[in-house]
Amino acid sequence: MDARTGADSPATPAESKAPQAINLADYRPPAFQVDQVDLTVDLADRDTRVVARLTVRRARAGATDLTLDGDPAMRLDGVTIDGEPVAETRLTRVAEQLTIADVPERFVLETVTRIDPVDNTRLEGLYKSGGIFCTQCEAEGFRNITFFPDRPDVMARYRVRIEADASAYPVLLSNGNRVEAGTLDGGRHFAVWEDPFPKPSYLFALVAGDLGRLGDSFTTRLGRPVTLNIWAARADLDKCGHAMASLKRAMAWDEQVYGLEYDLDEYNIVAVGDFNMGAMENKSLNVFNTKYVLASPETATDDDYDHIEGVIAHEYFHNWTGNRVTCRDWFQLSLKEGLTVFRDQQFSADMGSAALKRIDDVRVLRSHQFSEDAGPMAHPVRPSSYIEINNFYTTTVYNKGAEVIRMMHTLLGAEGFRRGIDLYFERHDGQAVTCDDFAAAMADAGGVDLGQFKLWYTQAGTPEVHAEGSYDPGAGRYTLTLTQRVPDTPGQTGKAPMHIPVKMALLGPNGQRLDARLAQGEGRADAEGFLLDLREASQQFVFEDVGVRPVASLLRDFSAPVRLTTDQSRDDKLFLLAHDDNAFARWEAGQDLAGDLILGLVADHAAGRALDVDPAFVQAIEQVIADAETDPALVAEIATLPSEVMLGQRMDEVDVDGLFAARQTVRETLGRALAARWQAVYDAASKRLAAGCDAADARQQRRVKNLALGYLGAAGAAGLRLAEAQYDAATTMTDRLAALRVLANADDPARERVLADFYARYEDQPLVIDKWFSIQAVSTRADTVERVAALMDHPAFTLANPNRVRSLVSAFSQLNQVRFHDASGQGYRLLADTVLKVDKLNPQIAARLVGPLGRWRRFDATRRSAMRSELERLVAVSDLSKDVYEIASKSLA
Ligand code: ARG
Ligand code: ZN
Repeated sequence: MDARTGADSPATPAESKAPQAINLADYRPPAFQVDQVDLTVDLADRDTRVVARLTVRRARAGATDLTLDGDPAMRLDGVTIDGEPVAETRLTRVAEQLTIADVPERFVLETVTRIDPVDNTRLEGLYKSGGIFCTQCEAEGFRNITFFPDRPDVMARYRVRIEADASAYPVLLSNGNRVEAGTLDGGRHFAVWEDPFPKPSYLFALVAGDLGRLGDSFTTRLGRPVTLNIWAARADLDKCGHAMASLKRAMAWDEQVYGLEYDLDEYNIVAVGDFNMGAMENKSLNVFNTKYVLASPETATDDDYDHIEGVIAHEYFHNWTGNRVTCRDWFQLSLKEGLTVFRDQQFSADMGSAALKRIDDVRVLRSHQFSEDAGPMAHPVRPSSYIEINNFYTTTVYNKGAEVIRMMHTLLGAEGFRRGIDLYFERHDGQAVTCDDFAAAMADAGGVDLGQFKLWYTQAGTPEVHAEGSYDPGAGRYTLTLTQRVPDTPGQTGKAPMHIPVKMALLGPNGQRLDARLAQGEGRADAEGFLLDLREASQQFVFEDVGVRPVASLLRDFSAPVRLTTDQSRDDKLFLLAHDDNAFARWEAGQDLAGDLILGLVADHAAGRALDVDPAFVQAIEQVIADAETDPALVAEIATLPSEVMLGQRMDEVDVDGLFAARQTVRETLGRALAARWQAVYDAASKRLAAGCDAADARQQRRVKNLALGYLGAAGAAGLRLAEAQYDAATTMTDRLAALRVLANADDPARERVLADFYARYEDQPLVIDKWFSIQAVSTRADTVERVAALMDHPAFTLANPNRVRSLVSAFSQLNQVRFHDASGQGYRLLADTVLKVDKLNPQIAARLVGPLGRWRRFDATRRSAMRSELERLVAVSDLSKDVYEIASKSLA
């Protein structure tokens, strides 16, 4: 039988041009539920056969037709209901759906489909990566494997039988526990897996391959032994130790902090080289991008080590926040992602330094999420409409979503928040729920009203908060006036004021916290100052018993994801930089000062004036680095200038060249004026490292040493020689890459030598070669556009591997503001050409490349029109994916 009617013809241009938006307001519970899924997957490269037996139950009164999702490229070989073939007249297959008319109330549906995993360059559904069969089903990849109601509120138990060639695929994995295995005729074998927990289809996973295993175990606090396995190419097994240690720390932490224990006997992680995202939390069978598993000191930087620890923890934490309680629909994505990002941030803060982690997270939020919020794709943490859900795995849903959870944590306090989490699981374990359900558990457990607070889920855009302070010495009274404004975003105007928690303190002349009394305005005193509730467009907070003129330390720990401006003077900011006892606020004061300085120089540059760097700033940085021995990592964070991308956000129109020139001038001035200081910092850290120090100290020393190297490199030739020597002598990737970065930006004879050396050394290590591409893509040299274009023809470059595309093209277009926005428009053309080529292979990755072009409104007329015309070129393409279409068309709107 053949039910392929209408399914094989490729989408017509008309169809692909006007893809349908899906709206939250249209949500309806499923008409049918599936209780049990029995899959038999017979693996073969070009022709994998999938038999699916679904136990189906009517869930909506009066429903007669069962509609299943299914990729048009799948071949449907047969459909039976309760063992009887279904007449073709009852089957309708249109685009992505198969409808079966007149089904009974309860029945067993069996379908046979055939798919081609080798041809699957989209890397969604079942595909092959480096000889390994693996799956990626979130969000809607399961429909590429078999016909199914592929939505997260359909939760079933799965039993999966995998059959494959025994010598090519000795390891066969799926979710849950392995209940059976054996050999078959013709050199084949099989394994059967059963997952006792009902789950949505997006958490299904299957892996088959010739994989090496790093095994370990963990005993839960109730004494349950858990087998832990990391599966990777055999040659990479010696790089899995850090991931394993991170996993065990995450398991212990979730028990201690949230009382959440692992719930199966086995936990598997598989590392694959071709992966659209970072990793995936499939129940008991996480599939990971190798980037977030493999590490050795020679091949991974200190930052890579942190990212691995964070992502391993993130996917593990999903077992409760995502898997045990999942999302009702994809609009609720932040229910699991915002919460799980918050949890992984908390975990990393506990594993290292909370202040450094916060600085890092805020930097990511500002550089990525704030620009998204200010651009054409701005959307609320809970979006209300989408064309392609893969386009909504965004920094808004993830990182701003995590900030929303963090604010609830701030408002309720750690204990109240924990009670809220307990109540959430008490109410919803085993269910598919909404962000409202989460907020209700928090409000009920914390005894707080989150009514206004929930606007954070529905109003897009970064709120702007302005603070003005005034001191009345006679009355000993300090008055703080806070005003807020939420900017318009596409489809949203005239927004209501938000509930914004503002952590603050009043500091006296020596930096001591003043014991003032909050006499007017909603808020409370806490151990570190005050927590104010800003709820209105404009609000006054009056503090009494303030004996001396205070300096306000505001938005400590970045207590809300807002843009804050103040009436504070340069001297107030210098004071906070020198004295604030909140490490985050101290860093922030430094960033703010650097920003004011650089933007002032941009104006000088535009007016043709000389660029003179304020000596007070140089002196302040000199004072900061005097502490390099006591707090090396924080010093390094403070002495790192804000990026051009972040500085550009503070301008009405981004002055690309002026920003570059101004920032470079400040770097060079700091490098030259403080050269002796940097050298001393460099030498002290090198000495400490040579003497041997513990791992945590060593990475802090490397951090500050490489910061100093960067400044010395900016200062002149001596620094470049130091970088060359460091490159050659390096024993860690952190040191080698830092030195390479300095030389890659320079006009220096050593440049080509070290780049060639780096390539030759690591030729057989894809993740390191990614770094080689990136470092050239972010080079500040004027010839970078041409260089990037040439690298796209390098034999090691391929559009088929997402990591490789990101390493060159995303690094260039997202991080290298001055060279990507080269006035020639070459960068834009290169990006659009790449989008079109990648779109043929992998629409999800192609769509993620478009972002930088969407920022066209922020630039001058020449660049604006060059960027626009590239977007227009994209939307004019007839067979564009809906992924790219959505981003490009919304960018033009
Ligand atoms: N849920 C995964 C995570 O932990 C990400 C999966 C992304 N998938 C996608 N199709 N965009 O964050
Ligand atoms: Zn996640």
